[in-house]
Amino acid sequence: MSLLAPRRRKDEDGADEDSAVQATRSGLPRSFRLFRLFLAEQSDPEAFYAALAEDAVQQVAGHCDLAGRTVVDVGGGGGWFTEAFRAHGAHSYLFEPDPSELHSRESGLAGAVVADGYWLPVRDGGADVVFSSNVLEHVPDPIGLIEEMIRATRPGGLVYLSYCNWYSPWGGHEMSPWHYLGPRFAERRYLRRHGREPKHHCGVNLFPVHVGPVLRALRARPDVEIVAARPRYYPRWCQPLLWLPGLREVATWNLMLVMRRIE
Ligand SMILES: C[S@@+](CC[C@H](N)C(=O)[O-])C[C@H]1O[C@@H](n2cnc3c(N)ncnc32)[C@H](O)[C@@H]1O
Repeated sequence: MSLLAPRRRKDEDGADEDSAVQATRSGLPRSFRLFRLFLAEQSDPEAFYAALAEDAVQQVAGHCDLAGRTVVDVGGGGGWFTEAFRAHGAHSYLFEPDPSELHSRESGLAGAVVADGYWLPVRDGGADVVFSSNVLEHVPDPIGLIEEMIRATRPGGLVYLSYCNWYSPWGGHEMSPWHYLGPRFAERRYLRRHGREPKHHCGVNLFPVHVGPVLRALRARPDVEIVAARPRYYPRWCQPLLWLPGLREVATWNLMLVMRRIE
């Protein structure tokens, strides 16, 4: 799968921009910057998603050189992540089941396919990296989706996964934090308050996914090893939060996992 020519972004000195970007984006300043962009997501979605995509791609690039790699972006929405992977030299393909998400941006994206993450149009082991950002909480069978991502990853390749866990302060998405009082209450309150249905309905397109059960299920698998697991938006030193059952379900906010498929 290498139909699309990779582009590698250079800075003014001709050096790869990724290292320059990485140097300025780490620790707490990175977290604050992402949070600021998140608060302005409604008014400036391009800035938020472009920054989020670049940030996630940096996380993957910390585990492999992306140049020339085949990357599959599962449920990639409007394609910001696919674009960011291409800017790092990867051959990236966007598989997104919802055409309205695919066409949510003015600029269309080449190499985008309407496809469901449960049935990826990729042969066994056909991708170097299979990536999904904030999709797991939108499918009824998260482990089934992960299994399909692992199937499509070559031995030695990477699976990147991140999702907003249910007890996160943002677990109820636009209904947060009222999901803590139950999804039905949160949905009714949203309707009363805004005069329209929320975008998400629990059990339809939003499902409670937790931190502990996913970590346990993946640790038990013989076909992958977890090479990184931490709260996605926090500095690296917050990783020990994941050692604290109970607290991690609230404090993680969004779990990031990088797994390597066993050879
Ligand atoms: C919150 S959006 C995330 C979009 C993008 N990945 C991001 O991080 O901004 C959730 C995406 O998951 C997609 N999705 C829902 N069910 C899916 C499935 N079965 N397979 C693949 N993607 C799915 C939705 O269409 C939507 O684009």
